Amino acid sequence: MTTESPTKTKKEEVTKVQKLYLLKQGKSLVCQLYVSIRTAQIYDRSNLVYERQGENLFGLIKALLEKEQEIFVKSKEGYLFLNETRLKFSFDGYVSSKFLMETFRKLQFESLVISSPLTAEELDEFVFALAHADMECENPFESLQKRILSSNIQHIRIEKFASEWDVGDESLPENQKKLAKKRFFKTISVAQEMMESGRTGRSINTVKSKRAIQFLIDQLIKNETNLMSLTSIKNFDEYTFAHSVNVCVLSVSLGVRLGLSKRELSELGFAALFHDVGKVRLPLNILNKAGELNEQEWEEVRKHPVFGVKTLLSKRSLDRFSTRAMVVSFEHHLKLDLSGYPQLSFKKDLNLFSRIVTIADVYDSMTSGRVYAKTPLTPDEALRRMLGKEGKAFDPVLLKVFINMLGIYPVGSVVILDSGEVGVVMKANPAELSRPEMAIIADKFGKKDKMETVDLTKIDDKTGKHKRTILKTIDPYQYKLDIARYIY
Ligand SMILES: [Fe+2]
Ligand SMILES: [Fe+2]
Repeated sequence: MTTESPTKTKKEEVTKVQKLYLLKQGKSLVCQLYVSIRTAQIYDRSNLVYERQGENLFGLIKALLEKEQEIFVKSKEGYLFLNETRLKFSFDGYVSSKFLMETFRKLQFESLVISSPLTAEELDEFVFALAHADMECENPFESLQKRILSSNIQHIRIEKFASEWDVGDESLPENQKKLAKKRFFKTISVAQEMMESGRTGRSINTVKSKRAIQFLIDQLIKNETNLMSLTSIKNFDEYTFAHSVNVCVLSVSLGVRLGLSKRELSELGFAALFHDVGKVRLPLNILNKAGELNEQEWEEVRKHPVFGVKTLLSKRSLDRFSTRAMVVSFEHHLKLDLSGYPQLSFKKDLNLFSRIVTIADVYDSMTSGRVYAKTPLTPDEALRRMLGKEGKAFDPVLLKVFINMLGIYPVGSVVILDSGEVGVVMKANPAELSRPEMAIIADKFGKKDKMETVDLTKIDDKTGKHKRTILKTIDPYQYKLDIARYIY
């Protein structure tokens, strides 16, 4: 089995180029921020000297935002980071980086987050707020925060604790898994927060979710297994939010396979996270109904794609993210042959993102035992049923890539082996789809205490045959197995 796939090499190349870009731009940004704040401390906003520095800073940030969706400057443990890339300063950048770190420290914030569509006015206002912030008062952070919130600054925010996203050294494999878990659950809470604000009629602040998605994408590019295995846990109380995050992870993973750019992946992730946002406008008794819905209730449910468009429209400003999300919300139940809902009186091709999200959505719903089937289907059974509708409901090519990505035995599948043991699939094996990596959870006598990871590609020296082979999948619910226990 080879470990080096061509896509991985390509991905590594992209990451390397992106890192170099961030290093270079990061240095310029720190220098320009320093100069702009310093100038703002001396001159008025209308003074030509400041105007020039303000323009330079805006130009730099605009160029970065075109590539990065969001700029995230963090000061931590004596270093500055731009979108998770640690910036290195030689002598010439020393003063400006020290100044910035000191400003962050004195004003008690760890990170500065800038998102699109930023205006030059907002940026100037922010620079002046920083330049004249009261660092000696009791709560410098709160007073600066107050000033930002009461002004027109909508696309810049400061964050006191970014630590909720961190777990320490990201390069350690054990931390990677922890990090994936942390980010996954954090995204669920962000999704919950967004949708709650949609429910109460407040306009949705999408900056947080964009950032959460950025983290998920970075994580997926590094190691998709950790996040994908989390999507197989289905026993969440807050189903809608967990479902949204699952659909987001599965859609973005599929997007990565299709070679979409980072920018496209962010838009896809955003649209996937909010595909069901219209459900917040449905009555709670329908949303949480345990039994089957009657026709009248179904009629209500069928309104959620259009409700989604309306909810997204109520956002303070419309950008590429929300317009894409509107299309996906509207189209995600249409089906490839347009036999779904809402009913259309004209023919149209479904957007690529809608075709991706539909697949992830139906797969997650089927395996969760909601909406499509009362009891959850095993992952392989769900894929089998979806293949039966290929071409009618789903884009056949995308569905094939999706199945290839999950493997014929997706992560979380419970199987019986020819050794009599019971195992849970932990990781797909693209080189040999029928031999994924698994954890044995019971021996042939049904003992369940010890868990052991095994490699199904191993050959028995004596017989020359595989040591273990999958016989069939079983339904974990029937055997009352809690897969989450093994995935965690
Ligand atoms: Fe939906
Ligand atoms: Fe959905």
